[in-house]
Amino acid sequence: QGAAQVLVASNRGPVSYTGQQDGSLVARRGGGGLVSGLSAIGSDADALWVCAALSDGDREAVRRGVGEPGVRMLDIPADVHADAYNGIANSVLWFVHHMLYQTPLEPVFDAEFRRQWASYQAYNRAFAEALAQEAAEGAAVVVQDYHLALAPRMLRQLRPDLRIGHFSHTPWAPPDYFRLLPDDIAAELLAGILGADRAAFLTRRWADAFTDCCHAVLGPGIPSGTRVGVHGLGADADFLRGRAHEPDVAERMTALRTEIGAGRRAIVRVDRTELSKNIVRGLLAYRQLLADRPEWRERVVHVAFAYPSRQDLAVYRDYTAAVQRVAEEINAEYGTAGWTPVLLHVEDDFARSLAAYRLADVALVNPIRDGMNLVAKEVPVVSDEGCVLVLSREAGAYEELGADAITVNPYDIGGTADALHRALTLPADERAERTKRLIAAATALPPAQWFLDQLHALQAGQAG
Ligand code: G6P
Repeated sequence: QGAAQVLVASNRGPVSYTGQQDGSLVARRGGGGLVSGLSAIGSDADALWVCAALSDGDREAVRRGVGEPGVRMLDIPADVHADAYNGIANSVLWFVHHMLYQTPLEPVFDAEFRRQWASYQAYNRAFAEALAQEAAEGAAVVVQDYHLALAPRMLRQLRPDLRIGHFSHTPWAPPDYFRLLPDDIAAELLAGILGADRAAFLTRRWADAFTDCCHAVLGPGIPSGTRVGVHGLGADADFLRGRAHEPDVAERMTALRTEIGAGRRAIVRVDRTELSKNIVRGLLAYRQLLADRPEWRERVVHVAFAYPSRQDLAVYRDYTAAVQRVAEEINAEYGTAGWTPVLLHVEDDFARSLAAYRLADVALVNPIRDGMNLVAKEVPVVSDEGCVLVLSREAGAYEELGADAITVNPYDIGGTADALHRALTLPADERAERTKRLIAAATALPPAQWFLDQLHALQAGQAG
């Protein structure tokens, strides 16, 4: 038993280390909702974030005892981590919850899968044991995401005194799709999360799907004392607006304006290069816009930032290549001496993302499925002159923003092309009105409040 009163557990932590030529380690702090959410209690000496060592630099930091206060990195054996993270979490569970398996991309439940599953169990156990060791009597622990679906139950067995929460940042699959998992594993995943006092989701839709899966797989009702809650993470407006007005962002705006060209509209998207983000169909919709409505040629640019993600997986590498190929095709087909129709950038650069947000006329957010999608919330907040949001009805953000966005079926390329046209031609006063309402909805639950709400509900034993 330890001293921490509030604990967070996640695969990816708030800091990562890179080894330098001279043997030293450089720490880099990450961003994201959890990082800013936790900063609400960050000054609290009793808070601890437990995460996995992901890189060689991280592992070296653990071995040397280098670390940040309030963070404990677990040096899980590299092969166990690779099986759990690449094999189970990102290949199988991510694909199930985002419903990405479609013939010929099918799940394979063979002997290798079973071996990887054993690693997923071991990885979850390593987290449960570390949390059990670090938590003070009666402490609150919030376990994050699909990487750690088994940890709540394992932790409950080790430490019945704790208040345990689980939060899913992804969608949850409906029962008919969830049940493509082997029966024993479907049941183990649900029972794992039901080991928590609270299972929470980004939208009502995902919470209901989880409840439906419990009924379908485990029998009637949610069998334990687990409550199901919803907390729709919002944009961190103060931080984003401040950061977006720093000099490095202004510099990138100047460069981006030159790349776009004077007087042209910008359709902006910023994503990890991720199958569920549906980047290729977004490009195809833009191509169709240029084909069907030649009046837009030379007058619009698709600014597409697609940052590297999960490159250990072949299917992600193939997708990255496809994004690049389609962007090049469009530029070859329509580009002129003075106009590049698609500006694709693939090196991760947060300042440049914010520069694109500020310049955006249209934000394209068309995921096949998405837990929330914070880009949909961030662009309206940061954009200098208001922007029109083209939003997939399958993004969690749709629940809050759908009424003021132009919504699309993510599979419908023609429909998305039409939506882009509508967005580009929306009258200025309507764009301003919609932006105002989008900002209000997008900032309703900023990260700090989002996290505190979960904590308070957990401590009070509430649903909702
Ligand atoms: C999603 C998941 C997060 C994950 C992030 C980046 O948002 O819900 O848990 O950290 O993607 O993915 P990565 O595999 O790079 O951590």
